[in-house]
Amino acid sequence: MNRSGYCNEIREGHIGQRVTLCGWVNRRRDHGGVIFIDLRDRTGLVQVVFSPERHPAVHQQAHELRSEYVVRLSGEVARRPQETENPRLPTGMIEVHVDHLELLNAAQPLPFQLDEEGVGEMTRLQYRFLDLRRPPMQKNLQFRHRVTQTVRSVLDEAGFLEIETPMLTRSTPEGARDYLVPSRVNPGQFYALPQSPQLFKQLLMIAGYDRYFQVARCFRDEDLRADRQPEFTQIDLEMSFVTAEDVMAVAEQLMGEVFQEAMHQTLPLPIPRLTYAEAMARYGLDAPDMRIPLELTDITDAMRHTGFKVFAQAANQTGNRGEHGLVKVLRVPGGAQLTRKQIDEYTEFVAIYGAKGLAWIKLNGPWQEDGWQSPIVKFFSAQEKEAMMAATGAQIGDILFFGADRASIVNESLGRLRVKVGKELNMLNDTAFSFVWVTEFPLLDWDNEARRHVAVHHPFTAPMVEDVHRLEGSGVAEDQRLDEVRSQAYDLVLNGTEVGGGSIRIHDPQMQQKMLALLGIEAAEAEEKFGFLLKALEFGAPPHGGLAFGLDRLVAILLGVDSIRDVIAFPKTQKAGCLLTQAPSSVDPLQLRELYLRSTHQPKG
Ligand code: AMO
Ligand code: AMP
Repeated sequence: MNRSGYCNEIREGHIGQRVTLCGWVNRRRDHGGVIFIDLRDRTGLVQVVFSPERHPAVHQQAHELRSEYVVRLSGEVARRPQETENPRLPTGMIEVHVDHLELLNAAQPLPFQLDEEGVGEMTRLQYRFLDLRRPPMQKNLQFRHRVTQTVRSVLDEAGFLEIETPMLTRSTPEGARDYLVPSRVNPGQFYALPQSPQLFKQLLMIAGYDRYFQVARCFRDEDLRADRQPEFTQIDLEMSFVTAEDVMAVAEQLMGEVFQEAMHQTLPLPIPRLTYAEAMARYGLDAPDMRIPLELTDITDAMRHTGFKVFAQAANQTGNRGEHGLVKVLRVPGGAQLTRKQIDEYTEFVAIYGAKGLAWIKLNGPWQEDGWQSPIVKFFSAQEKEAMMAATGAQIGDILFFGADRASIVNESLGRLRVKVGKELNMLNDTAFSFVWVTEFPLLDWDNEARRHVAVHHPFTAPMVEDVHRLEGSGVAEDQRLDEVRSQAYDLVLNGTEVGGGSIRIHDPQMQQKMLALLGIEAAEAEEKFGFLLKALEFGAPPHGGLAFGLDRLVAILLGVDSIRDVIAFPKTQKAGCLLTQAPSSVDPLQLRELYLRSTHQPKG
């Protein structure tokens, strides 16, 4: 028999039965006489025993076994002798008495032990085939499989068709740099690897496929971080004849089933919602971590005439596009206990986001009795102090942190500080997973360097119907007007990370033209880049919309791992390299010549 099952499937019910198992020698223990081995496969471990009395020849063979040797063995399942059971192992009540052993392959001594803690990530990635043998990685990839399969079956039942879209395509504008592939048969021309299947899924809707999904690989040449990889996977979907509500309902159903099937938990539905404006006002970020029970308060109005010049100046600063001034407060209950050192550290932290300082007030007692401790308290009038108390609901024992600057700086710095303080002071509420939808994103953002508008989501996202009129006309007030246009876009945020995003799309060709024009894309350029989409929209495009989940991020958060690299079988490093295969690499000059390419790179030294 090839094998009767997996190592970790054997239980007390199998006692007395013969089994045949295949796997790796996890560890060999030689107690003079009897030899014990933990045999491992992707399911887990089982203890197998070689006895010199019962099966001397096989016992002799077992002397040869070393860590990570590959074997097939057969024997009878027996109850472990009393006192030798291991209740921490699912197979801990039994063992297999081996009467037949076949050595399938040997292994070199390992560069690291599989159960060694703190092996450097570089080593792990270089020997990924060994790293992937470790139980945590096995668990992660099996969990990821469960999520993907759940998604497939839920979407199949809901009438979605899984359709593949090209990898060799044109550049899709999702905002990152493209990975380019030179064409041999079209000299001087390039494909782009897709940043997402966005345009193809819209074409599938125009083609009448009604409901599409794909577990889609996406490629983006951006600066990498713990939650970004140059190639990553989206659960991508699109639906016809729907509103944002319909798309969000499908997404919630999907998350509910994923929680049930992969986490064995019931996700409370519906997922709460915030508008973008609310998220920015209360949390300073568009992907707020809702596990943290801290909020920001806007006290700009109360600070217009204050004696503290930094605040007064910010409070009176006008401007568009996040240039207007704000004064906001982060109230931390119990924070009066913070040390000077901690406060200094937080001041350095907000500086990363452009804050010029971090004013603070410790409420050691009522202000009337000189109970406020702060370098700036002397500047505030009684009325201003009362306003701070009323706005923040502050109580004795709290600390107030202040940000005063351009809105964009205040929101980002205090928003990030909120998360840092909340985590460091263990304020996270008990819900391990906290989803929130963020809706009504602005349609456009201003790119100060390029001096033009850019799409916040992407150029195919529809404006909110009630804001469409603001796209009309032109003139001095244009900036303000365009800034206020909201889109039918929604992001799904989990524990402060954007795990999905989508929108209702523009299906009217005139509106799409107008949108491209607003983005400063000339008609000729639009025709060249998106002509196929603009044409398709002229041939009976149904109203449609969809969304894409970042599968790697979702799985990483559900598993509680810090980096998406731990849920990807063969991830890349910060420098977008694969340490296992040494990609990227130089290529034969002949290959380059065939592609009509010559490198201008001068290797150093
Ligand atoms: P978006 O660009 O928001 O939308 O991407 C969707 C989700 O993909 C994940 N993601 C990433 N994950 C890992 N590494 C990356 N470099 C990376 N970039 C993005 C995020 C994000 O929420 N076509 C649209 C979707 C749509 O409108 O339907 C799109 O790609 O979790
Ligand atoms: P200064 O007047 O520069 O001595 O600053 C007094 C306090 O205000 C210090 O705690 C600074 O960290 C803080 N501070 C200075 N600039 C800002 C700002 N733009 N926003 C918030 N706090 C600030």
